[in-house]
Amino acid sequence: MPRYALLGWPVGHSRSPGMQLAGFQALGLSATYECLAIPPEEFSARVAELPAQGFAGWNVTVPHKERMFQACHQVAGEEARAAHSVNTVVVREGKTYGYSTDGIGVARALEHDFGMKAMPSRQLYLGAGGAAQAAAMYAARHGATEIFLANRTLEKAQALAQRIRENAPQCQVHPLPLSQAPDAIPHCDILFQCTSLGLHPGDPLPIPAETIPKSLPVFDFVYTPSAFREALQRRGNPVSDGLEMLLQQGMESFQIWTGHPAPEKEMRQGLGARTTP
Ligand code: ATR
Repeated sequence: MPRYALLGWPVGHSRSPGMQLAGFQALGLSATYECLAIPPEEFSARVAELPAQGFAGWNVTVPHKERMFQACHQVAGEEARAAHSVNTVVVREGKTYGYSTDGIGVARALEHDFGMKAMPSRQLYLGAGGAAQAAAMYAARHGATEIFLANRTLEKAQALAQRIRENAPQCQVHPLPLSQAPDAIPHCDILFQCTSLGLHPGDPLPIPAETIPKSLPVFDFVYTPSAFREALQRRGNPVSDGLEMLLQQGMESFQIWTGHPAPEKEMRQGLGARTTP
């Protein structure tokens, strides 16, 4: 029986097993999906052992996506190559092939949660870590015309901006310190909250909620309840958490592994997500 897994550190809180197992079951495929907590220093050695242990594929989450990009035998997906990030691996004849399904997951979630069929033109990202990297690179390559990258550590925003320019020269990219994010807001059609703030109770807000006009849609990658989202919801902003994105990126991984279209209804139920409105 093929084994699948989620590799992360930590991975205890993940909803991916419920979602993927529901998908396998719906298609009558017998396969397992487990969570593997792998500390960064053990990553390369553990990953190299997985094919021999019967793993046919896996997902990769924080903080290992860039490490997995380096560790694949072949980076097979265009998006993974551009973003330097792999969240989906498939094993073929003992070799590992890496893909990134995060960007398409965000695009589909924007359509589902906000009714956005086209990529919003002008986008502001708070954060420049793994989540911002995959989402902003995908957006720049698929229709965004101007991207603002606001990060606490300016150098990380500058490095990401440079890579986006190399991969999507038609998109203008502006790195800036997180404290200056409110200055960019009037120039943007959407805000992506990609810092890890909100994961832990008591975290401060990345920027003050009152600097965000009520009409601006906000997409937050933190899918646990957060003070930032609560404040925005109280103000009446259209707000999306990362749950729909988790479903959509997982469905894309499922299709890469099995070659079958992912059974959305069952996987959505397995995730415990809301039903389609
Ligand atoms: P992910 O893969 O979820 O994006 P990550 O790569 O660890 O996780 O990135 C976390 C992001 O949250 C980074 O942009 C980080 O900013 P730095 O690059 O300056 O580290 C941001 N972040 C984390 N803690 C923060 C804090 N207390 N204030 C502001 N930004 C923070």
